[in-house]
Amino acid sequence: MTTTQRYNVAVVGATGAVGAKMLETLDKKNFPINELHLLSSKRSAGKELEFQGKTYTVQETTPESFEGIDIALFSAGGSVSKKFAPEAVKRGAVVVDNTSAYRMDPEVPLVVPEVNEEDIKTHNGIIANPNCSTIQMVAALKPIQDQFGMSRVIVSTYQAVSGAGNEALDELRTQSKAFLEGEDLEAELLPVSGEKHHYPIAFNALPQIDVFQDNGYTFEEMKMINETKKIMHDDTVHVAATCVRLPFFTSHAESVYVEVDKEGVTVDQLKTAISNAEGIVLEDDPENQVYPTPLSSAGKCDVFVGRIRKDLDNQKGFHLWVVSDNLLKGAAWNSVQIAESLIKNNWLQK
Ligand SMILES: NC(=O)c1ccc[n+]([C@@H]2O[C@H](COP(=O)([O-])OP(=O)(O)OC[C@H]3O[C@@H](n4cnc5c(N)ncnc54)[C@H](OP(=O)(O)O)[C@@H]3O)[C@@H](O)[C@H]2O)c1
Repeated sequence: MTTTQRYNVAVVGATGAVGAKMLETLDKKNFPINELHLLSSKRSAGKELEFQGKTYTVQETTPESFEGIDIALFSAGGSVSKKFAPEAVKRGAVVVDNTSAYRMDPEVPLVVPEVNEEDIKTHNGIIANPNCSTIQMVAALKPIQDQFGMSRVIVSTYQAVSGAGNEALDELRTQSKAFLEGEDLEAELLPVSGEKHHYPIAFNALPQIDVFQDNGYTFEEMKMINETKKIMHDDTVHVAATCVRLPFFTSHAESVYVEVDKEGVTVDQLKTAISNAEGIVLEDDPENQVYPTPLSSAGKCDVFVGRIRKDLDNQKGFHLWVVSDNLLKGAAWNSVQIAESLIKNNWLQK
């Protein structure tokens, strides 16, 4: 982005899977940084990371870490955000939080800039970045909601292991090697760290992401349901989700069924609406086997949509295949977009 003013930026969780992408994105998007502070837990304090040719020493996060910071990008887990985001705000920073700590707080805007950028200006110091699987889905649904109305969404996800962080990626690597060498698979982390049972992710599919709720849905599924309604400003839309973890590294894929309000909508109209939308790329040509995949979308900031079909029984129903890099649009890029919007629109002041 181009601006003359430069800002003091803190990245909390800089040594994590999202943190690494945050640094990559700040660099790639030429974010106007004055000072950069890289923060982690005590474990990684002292570690050195490179940014734009300069070496930075990672520091342990403390309340004082936020003195003089303008923008703090948090991705270090919900408890870290609960503890330190208010400290950052108290010291004058605006926080963009990647965790689920504040997403459903009515005082905190939950933002995907292509969908509800204007909500940013209502912030009181914290802006929440939605769950990765929600972000790509609402980005694809927004042009449909705007042009045809939308009454129901049913989504099944095919989520990458990087969505569970660096340790989960290590588990996938170790188990894959063991499997191919004919050894027993040891599972210690997935589906959810701290749960009673763990199952191998290598060569498997796990229909549990995050912990189960009393209603039988997982917390990941409830995030998709509740966050979609909040971001799209529609409490009446029916949303159901089934979230599944699969053994690939990066990018979440989603099979999305959507029912529109308007009669007589065609697949071509839907394709036009989607291909004209900002941040969305239509890759939909079945004759030539063109559709997005996790591998083809990894490393890119856009949301990719393909396989658009009309439901065979419901004239108002459509099926879509939505794929995006969970660490970029699902996390780092969406956060940096929010930070860019704060600057561009002069919304840094609370
Ligand atoms: N992965 C995704 O696709 C994705 C997408 C959206 C949102 N998120 C959210 O972003 C957060 C981080 O995810 P991740 O995948 O990057 O996890 P990760 O790879 O496990 O990294 C966790 C990061 O948090 C830091 N951290 C842990 N405990 C801390 C503490 N007490 N104080 C300060 N820093 C601490 C770690 O520092 P150390 O190196 O010192 O341990 C590390 O930098 C999670 O809340 C996750 O839900 C993830």
